[in-house]
Amino acid sequence: MAEVAIREDAGEGSLSSEVERLRAALEDQGRVAEEKERQLERYAADLRETFKAERARTDELHASYVDTVRALTNAVEARDAYTSKHAERVAAYGLELTRNIDPELALDPQVEFGFLLHDVGKVAIPDVILFKAEPLIPEERDLMRRHAMIGYDIVSHVPFLGEAAKIVRHHHEHWDGSGYPDGLAGEEIPRLARIFAVVDALDAMTTKRPYSDEIPLARARAEIAAKSGTQFDPDVVVELEKLSDDTLEQIKASIT
Ligand SMILES: [Fe+2]
Repeated sequence: MAEVAIREDAGEGSLSSEVERLRAALEDQGRVAEEKERQLERYAADLRETFKAERARTDELHASYVDTVRALTNAVEARDAYTSKHAERVAAYGLELTRNIDPELALDPQVEFGFLLHDVGKVAIPDVILFKAEPLIPEERDLMRRHAMIGYDIVSHVPFLGEAAKIVRHHHEHWDGSGYPDGLAGEEIPRLARIFAVVDALDAMTTKRPYSDEIPLARARAEIAAKSGTQFDPDVVVELEKLSDDTLEQIKASIT
């Protein structure tokens, strides 16, 4: 019996030391797990900070892109008292129309950049042609028309302007292929350039220019509708008809 008791004692002893060892091992594992959790929390906090800083840098970069585009636009428009704010107005009309046609597309900043910069190539057109009240002679007209390609050459070298370059190049193409510079027709013309062409005409007709007086909105709408399928994309003309007079007049009144 004594031997058994000793063995039992010994058994209990080794059992409790085993429990002790296991408890210690568990505590160690617990400490390791806690440390890992703290590391993960630090890592997550670092990631949040990095993301926040990255976001701030992106916002800053975008703001400087917008400022650069506006500075370029203003440099072109500063020459011309008549078309002053034309780019800003036409960009606002264009964005409103694009939102109605494809809301996703309107969120891309390059769309607004293209609308604002459409006539940037006019920096290279002499004042005597740009401000001529009489009709242009063929040589002058050819020179004037070069502003689309000159603008494209300026803008296409700036990577952040991307799609904007296509608007600049193709904003004078006609649906029936009779426009310039490439004589593209129908859906060969980039969609944003087709949208832009309609609002460009709308603003040109509803504001005073060296070569023409402004006409009422209803007449401008009628002129555009009459050129649906020849100068303008018929689907875009239909979308313009859906924009109310109020919406268009509010945009015009908000940009002075
Ligand atoms: Fe133009």
